[in-house]
Amino acid sequence: MAAFRGKKPTLLSPCRKSLAEQPEHQQRRLYGRRQSRPLNTQRQEAFDTLMPRIQIELTPALDPKSLFSKPKSEHWLEIGFGNGEHLAALMAAHPENGYIGVEPYINGMAAFLKDIKDEPCDNIRVLMDDAILLCENLIDDCLDGIYVLNPDPWPKTRHHKRRIISRDNLDIFTRILKPGGQLIMSTDVDGLAEWMVTQSSIHPAFEWTAQSADDWRKTPENWITTRYETKGAKGASRMSYLIFQRN
Ligand SMILES: C[S@@+](CC[C@H](N)C(=O)[O-])C[C@H]1O[C@@H](n2cnc3c(N)ncnc32)[C@H](O)[C@@H]1O
Repeated sequence: MAAFRGKKPTLLSPCRKSLAEQPEHQQRRLYGRRQSRPLNTQRQEAFDTLMPRIQIELTPALDPKSLFSKPKSEHWLEIGFGNGEHLAALMAAHPENGYIGVEPYINGMAAFLKDIKDEPCDNIRVLMDDAILLCENLIDDCLDGIYVLNPDPWPKTRHHKRRIISRDNLDIFTRILKPGGQLIMSTDVDGLAEWMVTQSSIHPAFEWTAQSADDWRKTPENWITTRYETKGAKGASRMSYLIFQRN
């Protein structure tokens, strides 16, 4: 599993405050790395110029509508977007929607910003932190959908509690998704696919939209393939595409 990046946990500083200043409930452990190699000049430049324009300032009771200058048809969140190919393609395909991308890994964030720096960027907002911190600050029923694509698998049993799809996080997704909103997940790790299906199926607020095996084994129509998916999946036949609906 090439993209498994289990490293020492980092205690993040939400809103860039020191830990001592943060309310206790905001002190969350984020597992995985935040930076690998230094940014190259182009990525650093894109980060320095674009990030201040499109980054989200975390505030309580945050309404996604307030993040965009013009009204948007739908509001979608992508959790852990990696280098952001999926998000960049969505932005271009649906200028009428507002997208929020969260990625704590600076090299991924900078790669994404470099890719989109010449775009209008009026339908994208980003946070370089733990996505759950953002989710906890969002108002109720405000999102049309959430993408969680190829999340870190945390294969060891003792690390399963670190997985982003958990009962607690599904409770949070239930609150911020509109009724009928979608939770779209993918993975090429069988054990993780099983985990995500089980966790989401036993949650009373979510229903699996799959009617047959083809619905989760076959690449959905108009699917945007991520870099991880191309690199990691030795043939997309091992991918699982899991689409749940908030009831
Ligand atoms: C295996 S990578 C997949 C990246 C991308 N979704 C793709 O398919 O190419 C998982 C990503 O999730 C990010 N991540 C891990 N925990 C996160 C969290 N709590 N909030 C937001 N992103 C997170 C990691 O930094 C990493 O970039």
